[in-house]
Amino acid sequence: MDFSGKNLLRIRGMTRGELEGLFKAADRMAPVAREKRGLKSLDGQVLANLFFESSTRTRFSFDTAMLRLGGSVIGFSGGAGTSLDKGESFEDTIKMVEQYANGIVIRHPEPGAAARAAEVASIPIINAGDGHNEHPTQAILDTYTISREKSLDGIKVLITGDLKYGRTVHSLAYALSLFDSVELQLFAPPELSFPQEILDEISGKVKITQLDSFDVSSADVVYATRIQKERLANPADAKEYVYRIDAATMEEMKPDAMLMHPLPRVGEIAEAVDSDPRAAYFREAANGLPVRMALLEEILG
Ligand code: CP
Repeated sequence: MDFSGKNLLRIRGMTRGELEGLFKAADRMAPVAREKRGLKSLDGQVLANLFFESSTRTRFSFDTAMLRLGGSVIGFSGGAGTSLDKGESFEDTIKMVEQYANGIVIRHPEPGAAARAAEVASIPIINAGDGHNEHPTQAILDTYTISREKSLDGIKVLITGDLKYGRTVHSLAYALSLFDSVELQLFAPPELSFPQEILDEISGKVKITQLDSFDVSSADVVYATRIQKERLANPADAKEYVYRIDAATMEEMKPDAMLMHPLPRVGEIAEAVDSDPRAAYFREAANGLPVRMALLEEILG
């Protein structure tokens, strides 16, 4: 595994060995993250966090990861106050920021934006979510979270919600396809179904089952997602796709299942479920920190 100086644009194309190497590196970072300690491995380095789209977890965990490794952070949220306001192009913005930073983390509403940045930058670009395309660091932390509690080989994962525009599940499907005997169960409204081109790519590697009802009874992991209303042609349509996982749903789940969600949740999971040990979404989010510390050290260290 050699991530040194490389871009991380997508999970598609990664190997199982690379993912598992990152899991081991994240294990080494976990006590540092948990105990809120600091290291010096990226002392003197600067990370630019360019968030053209809103974020809580990804932005602040990248900020914190860099600071805990002894580095510094610059960046913006939304781009207001930068020369983008004056009409400076995306490419010129990247070419300027690379003069100041050792690496760039970028979230953008446009699919392929991180790859566009990588075309003009000579420093590593990390994709923190590009439109409905991919969210690779989320898939690394998601599979890391599963791997700490279950074997990824032979896992049965039910993915539900917005499978069309939910970039986390696209990256997750690619990541799961690197493991043996995985079954992917899909349940979504027809308008929000999983992109066929991704299914075509992974269908030889995982068993894909399209469910015709929300049957959580056989899944080892239930992975729920938010309806991405900001990506719908008519955001008001989002209310037609609302669903809710509550105590009754948990009754139907296996006693040792995991309930995951990349967050934010906007009604998909009842707060009453949070105290159920199978509710894994907050420990999933917490794992974002050691995983991103591991990634930054591998790429910039
Ligand atoms: N999971 C995730 O990407 O959350 P944020 O949008 O808050 O970064």
